[in-house]
Amino acid sequence: MESKVPVCLADFAQRARAVLPPEVWDYLDGGSGTEVTLEANRSALDRVGVLPRVLTGVATASLRTRLLGREYAMPVGVAPMAYQRLVHPDGEVGLANAARSADLPYLASILGSTPIEQVTATGAEVWFQLYWLRDRGLVTELLARVREAGCRALVVTVDVPVLGRRYRDLRNAFRLPPELVAANLPGGRDDLAHGGTPGVTAVSVTSGAAFAPALGWADLRWLAEHCELPLVVKGILDPADAARAVDAGARAVVVSNHGGRQLDGVPASATMLPEVVAAVGERCEVLLDSGVRGGLDVLRALALGAHGVLVGRPMLWALAAGGAAGASAGLALLADELRDALALAGCADPAAARTLRTVPLD
Ligand code: FNR
Ligand code: LAC
Repeated sequence: MESKVPVCLADFAQRARAVLPPEVWDYLDGGSGTEVTLEANRSALDRVGVLPRVLTGVATASLRTRLLGREYAMPVGVAPMAYQRLVHPDGEVGLANAARSADLPYLASILGSTPIEQVTATGAEVWFQLYWLRDRGLVTELLARVREAGCRALVVTVDVPVLGRRYRDLRNAFRLPPELVAANLPGGRDDLAHGGTPGVTAVSVTSGAAFAPALGWADLRWLAEHCELPLVVKGILDPADAARAVDAGARAVVVSNHGGRQLDGVPASATMLPEVVAAVGERCEVLLDSGVRGGLDVLRALALGAHGVLVGRPMLWALAAGGAAGASAGLALLADELRDALALAGCADPAAARTLRTVPLD
């Protein structure tokens, strides 16, 4: 039964599904292949048993956290997601405004449907997410544009040499509506994004045409040398890759399997998080995404060693359900849940949560 007001982020999912065209819901909700990893992301987090501490004297926990040298209201960022005006006319500006009001970082996808300058004009703390373009000259131009626009960090996503095979989108011959374009892609091949071919998803065609599949460690070092912004590497699961990313100049890594949308069958992010934390130690910050659905998952990620998390789909659910106001309500709910979870675990703040023990629930 749907409650009158959302009491958890999952309540926004029902509302989003009710208002979105089925093929848009599938693009947002779907994973790659038979969605083994999509499922694993949730079941792995559900099996993380956090051991609470008692009699710690904590009445109200503080959620404030430092990420990339700046203090935020809580250890949560809005994950970068393409084409946000697909789900609501408020789109990227609406979600960025909600992040600004919540004092959280908003990660802007290179495939955003709104020019980055309009996103940073909201006053939000914007981290720009880059897919490596085939033309390095365009990468250089885009880095200058992103810096000029006032972005605070550069997030390079490294788990998309090609787009994952999302059966739902292939069956739907998913394509973007003609009025939607990748607003930051220089001279984007938007015609490719609007074509509808049976058995093909247009997002794969347009991203395949624009993005270089063969990004290498030398390219990452080049990025670190040519971009003054703090560098975040998103899409890492192997601890050895995390250590190499730090060596190449990363200030933070995101342990992520793209929300189960890329190589199906890979482990859940939560499963790999402890090994990545052990591999990098305190040499860089570690964020987790893929499967986070509420404050308890944030506590779980902290207890596993993460400095923070990125939340993806739930933010699109909230945006679809209520635009910028819906997204703000979703972030407020997440903060309330995290505040309660920290207090119930006996933690005064997120740093204390990182010292908690975890015990697997069988
Ligand atoms: C994404 N994600 C993504 N990641 C990225 O680096 N650039 C992008 O443009 C996109 N686009 C995108 C669109 C949609 C509809 C979804 C659902 C996801 C992946 C995203 O940043 C994040 O890694 C996952 O969404 C995290 O998993 P959850 O929280 O959605 O389960
Ligand atoms: C996706 C790509 C665009 O997950 O990152 O849809």
